[in-house]
Amino acid sequence: MNQLLQTILDFIQQNEKITAEEKEMLLKAVKKVDSDLTISEFKLERTEKVKRTTAILLEETIEELEQKRKAIEETNVALQNSLEELKSAQTQLIQSEKMASLGELTAGIAHEIQNPLNFVNNFSDVSTELVDEMNEEIDKGNLDDAKQIAEDLKQNLVKINHHGKRAGDIVKGMLQHSRTSSGQKELTDINELADEYFRLAYHGLRAKDKNFNAAMKTDYDISIGLIKIIPQDIGRVVLNLITNAFYVVNEKKKLNITGYEPVVTVTTKQHAGHIEVCVKDNGNGIPEKVLEKIFQPFFTTKPTGQGTGLGLSLSYDIIKAHGGELKVETKANEGLPVGETGSTFKILLPFN
Ligand SMILES: Nc1ncnc2c1ncn2[C@@H]1O[C@H](COP(=O)(O)OP(=O)(O)OP(=O)(O)O)[C@@H](O)[C@H]1O
Ligand SMILES: [Mg+2]
Repeated sequence: MNQLLQTILDFIQQNEKITAEEKEMLLKAVKKVDSDLTISEFKLERTEKVKRTTAILLEETIEELEQKRKAIEETNVALQNSLEELKSAQTQLIQSEKMASLGELTAGIAHEIQNPLNFVNNFSDVSTELVDEMNEEIDKGNLDDAKQIAEDLKQNLVKINHHGKRAGDIVKGMLQHSRTSSGQKELTDINELADEYFRLAYHGLRAKDKNFNAAMKTDYDISIGLIKIIPQDIGRVVLNLITNAFYVVNEKKKLNITGYEPVVTVTTKQHAGHIEVCVKDNGNGIPEKVLEKIFQPFFTTKPTGQGTGLGLSLSYDIIKAHGGELKVETKANEGLPVGETGSTFKILLPFN
């Protein structure tokens, strides 16, 4: 029993002024207090123990959490590194896709440059002869004739300059195509851009495969004027769509179906608030199962080694970055007559 309670107990027992009855009551009360005290002490001790155990557990948990935090930090660093690696791989991939499409264009570009070069060569030959003639007329004293020849010469020089510039523009366009996109929007004549890539793609394919041929149809809406786009990027999209279209009509032609004439059509149209560039082919269309996947990176139905499957996925990203949409309409029903299947890819671009 508690020391103090024992003293109280002794005091009560020895006190003669308290009746036996009162003593019994007081003794009972003191014993009750003593038992309550013992219970409280026991509880206190338990609580202390629990507190100590909790403190230990807490310490362990903190340590565990710290370890987990460190692990997460390490994972984060690893993730960051992989993300950077992925980003750089993607940039390289985009660049190599660009270079590959430039490769496809080389023959077309050479063909396009050959025309103005022929003009330059012919006009300079003619001009050399004109200089001789002019000298003869001067010797003869026919100054009026000499002046007339000089006038012709001047016109020839203007033409030489014009065609020289045209060749220069083609080279500039080629360099722009291979350059990493400046990311700068420029006022661009979308009709000219589409037409340029249409011809380059055609001549490129012709140069690679003499048997390749397809009718090229165009319908440009001249009311569009200039629109603000990143020309290299939109040029690549148009080129990808045209290359795909030429590929499918060429494949279909190889099947020697009677009455089949491959046709690729490029059109532009102005609508309220946006413009539309369409590339249409009369190939076999895209079956539903394939259609779901065509915009996925690396998806291709071309034989191994022939396609990267990046054309449409990159095109999709470029158009999205321009705030536009890339849509496809296709008829692949095998029961359809030969001339009625085909696909139309539509680029929708806002006016700014
Ligand atoms: N005009 C089209 N007609 C039918 N199928 C098409 C047409 N355009 C694309 N496809 C389908 O979409 C797939 C993906 O096209 P995408 O341009 O992304 O890659 P690819 O042409 O196969 O390869 P790459 O562009 O690298 O040469 C093609 O393999 C083809 O199955
Ligand atoms: Mg393609």
